[in-house]
Amino acid sequence: MKIRISDDALAIACGADTVAQAFMRAGAEVERVSSWGMHWLEPLVDVEGVGYAIVTADQVETILAGEAESIGPIAEHPFLTRQSRLTFARAGKTRSTSLDDYYSSDGWRGLATARTMGAEATIETVLASGLRGRGGAGFPAGIKWKTVASAQADTKYIVCNADEGDSATFADRMVMEGDPFMLIEGMAIAALAVGAQKGYVYIRSEYPHAIAKMETAIAASAHLVAPFVVEVRVGAGAYVCGEETSLLNSLEGKRGEVRAKPPLPALEGLFGKPTVVNNVLTLAAIPWILTHGGEAYAAYGMGRSKGTMPVQLAGNIKYGGLFEVGFGITLGELVNDIGGGTDSGRAVRCVQVGGPLGAYIPPSRFDLPFDYEAFAAADALIGHAGITVFDDTVDMAQMARFAMEFCAVESCGKCTPCRLGSTRGVETLDQIIAGKNVEANLALLADLSETMKFGSLCALGGFTPYPVMSAITHFPEDFR
Ligand code: NAI
Ligand code: SF4
Repeated sequence: MKIRISDDALAIACGADTVAQAFMRAGAEVERVSSWGMHWLEPLVDVEGVGYAIVTADQVETILAGEAESIGPIAEHPFLTRQSRLTFARAGKTRSTSLDDYYSSDGWRGLATARTMGAEATIETVLASGLRGRGGAGFPAGIKWKTVASAQADTKYIVCNADEGDSATFADRMVMEGDPFMLIEGMAIAALAVGAQKGYVYIRSEYPHAIAKMETAIAASAHLVAPFVVEVRVGAGAYVCGEETSLLNSLEGKRGEVRAKPPLPALEGLFGKPTVVNNVLTLAAIPWILTHGGEAYAAYGMGRSKGTMPVQLAGNIKYGGLFEVGFGITLGELVNDIGGGTDSGRAVRCVQVGGPLGAYIPPSRFDLPFDYEAFAAADALIGHAGITVFDDTVDMAQMARFAMEFCAVESCGKCTPCRLGSTRGVETLDQIIAGKNVEANLALLADLSETMKFGSLCALGGFTPYPVMSAITHFPEDFR
């Protein structure tokens, strides 16, 4: 009898290692696999396809004796059957650093296709897929690749942005921990398409498990992607290093400060050379696209938001985890139907989508479809598709203050609206919270937000007004 238990960091944090050891002590054959992404069920034990949830070491004997209560076949769980898992097709099923498992689950087929069809057709396939940058900005990946491919240079780079810093996000981490060869394959395809020789994966230091898995996978697959070479670089904990130009500065050994654009990294990126900077999820989507074709990917989604998005459900939510689905699903479906509402059982007051720079959205707007354009029109942000849920005990004035404080702490200091504006914003919110000159201070805050939105050099200062102003607009009672 084979027992499968995830060795993903979240599962380990929930006690998966202890449970796995208990099964081994009981003489069972244990295989450590990637995570299904049903976080509320961890540690989830898979016995020949049948699941046992929130398992503790003292339940091992009853499970092995077939006397424990199961959740039934894992693959038939409604949380999974409602998804369209393209990027996360292997989640829960394979050992993350096993080349055998990767080969036997369609691994390296995308790279083989790219090698056969050549660089130009590979870029055309990515263009046809409609894939847009999954880091947040949603810029078409194929156009970025085309820019780098047509740049004349002796050296070009592929940089994978794995500095996943948004609240409620963990999809990049799950890819790196659960399916690292898929990311390497995506990078190798990008390298072939644009003519790059070297790739870097810039991973935040807070992800030790991902760093270890990526290093193991890079060493195991070096011969398969050669002459392309991939290396891991570890960040040092600055949120702003997720912004592509400060990430490049950090990679070059400089202070993680934002660079002015232009020049675009696509033309003058790492060490001044043409560079593809793509998020983990963007590159991880590539092998599927090359294997199945651009049109097959574009068949998912809505409008100009093509394909699937691995949505991350977190915060005060009953069924938190990874939900990969075609664009177009509404926020209400995600939060209430799939996520089951709050974990506390109280009413949902709002959600924040897109990390600490994302707008707070009240339930009255839960008809909003998950689509880049629809979110932009509603002054909201899909970002990296992390959804943080709050119940009715949340104090929105404190959340607005937190947004400004976060910006003040994480600001790289390069431009004035962000560096000074965020600190003045905290002071102004403190006055409002203390009930001093509330109307005048709210007007001042709106003015300051306008300056930060249009005068900041990057998204950190430029997007901080979204959570602040959305909190004031939708929850005015918390400020007066
Ligand atoms: P941007 O709109 O300036 O650029 C998007 C991407 O397209 C960049 O890589 C840029 O270099 C590239 N690009 C633009 N025009 C191009 C052209 N003509 N040819 C080739 N490439 C071109 O957005 P930015 O500042 O890079 O990112 C902002 C976004 O980052 C926000 O929307 C936010 O959602 C997201 N974000 C994500 C975080 C995360 O943890 N994943 C954290 C904070 C923000
Ligand atoms: Fe730096 Fe903030 Fe300006 Fe971005 S907006 S460049 S983080 S000071």
